[in-house]
Amino acid sequence: MAHEGTKLNAARAFECSAAEKISAGDRPSFHLTPLTGWMNDPNGFCWYNGCYHLFYQYYPYDTVWGPMHWGHATSTDLLHWQYQPCTLAPDTIPDGMGCFSGSSLPLPDGRLLLMYTGVTADPQGGKNLQVQCVASGDGIDFVKEENNPVIPRTLLPEGYSAVDFRDPKIWYEGGSYYCAVASRHTENLGSVLLFESLDALHWKFVTVLDSSRGQLGRMWECPDFFALGNTQVLLVSPQEVQATADGEFHCGDNTAALLGSYDRTTHVFTRRSVQAVDQGLDFYAPQTTLAPDGRRILVGWMQSWATTPTAPRRHTWFGRMSLPRELAVHNGRLCQQPVREIETLWADEIRLEGVTVAAPTGLPGIGGRSLDLTVTVDVAASPDCRCFALRFAEGGGRFVEVRCDLAKGSLTFDRSCGGCRRDIPHIRTLPAVPREGRLTLRLILDLDCAELFLNGGERTVSALLEAPAQAAGISFRAEGGPVRLTVVQHTLR
Ligand code: FRU
Repeated sequence: MAHEGTKLNAARAFECSAAEKISAGDRPSFHLTPLTGWMNDPNGFCWYNGCYHLFYQYYPYDTVWGPMHWGHATSTDLLHWQYQPCTLAPDTIPDGMGCFSGSSLPLPDGRLLLMYTGVTADPQGGKNLQVQCVASGDGIDFVKEENNPVIPRTLLPEGYSAVDFRDPKIWYEGGSYYCAVASRHTENLGSVLLFESLDALHWKFVTVLDSSRGQLGRMWECPDFFALGNTQVLLVSPQEVQATADGEFHCGDNTAALLGSYDRTTHVFTRRSVQAVDQGLDFYAPQTTLAPDGRRILVGWMQSWATTPTAPRRHTWFGRMSLPRELAVHNGRLCQQPVREIETLWADEIRLEGVTVAAPTGLPGIGGRSLDLTVTVDVAASPDCRCFALRFAEGGGRFVEVRCDLAKGSLTFDRSCGGCRRDIPHIRTLPAVPREGRLTLRLILDLDCAELFLNGGERTVSALLEAPAQAAGISFRAEGGPVRLTVVQHTLR
């Protein structure tokens, strides 16, 4: 056995015994949580040997971030996950201080390759340094490459920081392996560097794909780079962003999609537009993979660094993944929809067509904490309505509210009355413009996970709720004049 006597075996033994004490009812039903302990970024998301593999940043021993391991789960439908043994532990010289985020790629010989960031102590006593490493295996057990790091810091071009050099996303294209790695430049700040290799072991620097240009954060994390139809998408998670007046980016950590074109001969990426990926309170570090049917699927860490120090620990696990989402570009925007597999969880349907609402009211049969609810606001047929509000997780004086200001064309997600006792961000406001006279709000609830998809996913808002499970009411309200709605609810089983 490759890992006998190592930190990995210790982690595997520990996680098994710790997980036995967690009952299924202590977890959301279709959002992936760590087997035990701490989870952050999705890593190595892929389809390999007949199922999806989703690895994650993992510290099994506590519900706080610690020396990073990789956890692992597999699924055939992206909703029901089966835990697999811990995959990587920080047990070699190049990764002794942590196995940070990375990606995976099935190899022609049938093995799965993992590419990740190794964190090492600085021999000069400065901040820890970051390098890129690989490991390969059968999907469960992996052997780290003897010659790690495969991308040492000496391959970094002038001006880039070896302290911030991480999160390789690997792919194969036109006879070469490529990887996009985030780093920080003294002037251009957050940047994504492209490296190329013929064997995934010997790499050379190619170019800088894009950078913050001093505008979109100080450091970029977790890049992903892929084509979606005719559009090339560069995903990054920028840190220390200054909020923009158009409501696209908020202060602090954000997720961004840079849309443009990519010349595969010169490796020049030309950025056309920039948008947020998710504008909620709990979403970061998304990563994508290609499904066997050609869909590009994205999953993010459904949590935020800003709130993790104070977020309550209710279980012996902490952190979760978002619902996996299908990506598409519509009208120049990256759009996300819940994976269609969610329909396999649909139980009874309630459909209320053309309901008129003014004063706060519930609607027959509408409510619950595990549901897929679509509310279509017929703005064109509600000329006097200035504001439409939807409350959910309502009960005992607690609620979460989504308010659409129809005059301003904005949406406010507000969980401040949801029962939280901590002074952390609770409100986000973003543009919400009717399309063909309608606003559509699709809300997926899985106990304390809420994900809102606006207008076919042109904007999304992910947030965790603190309201107790019994707070399951849903109500509707209009201001200024009545609003006409169509409401369709599927309970999720
Ligand atoms: C993003 C991140 C990555 C890093 C990992 C460490 O959330 O900071 O850049 O690889 O988390 O756990």
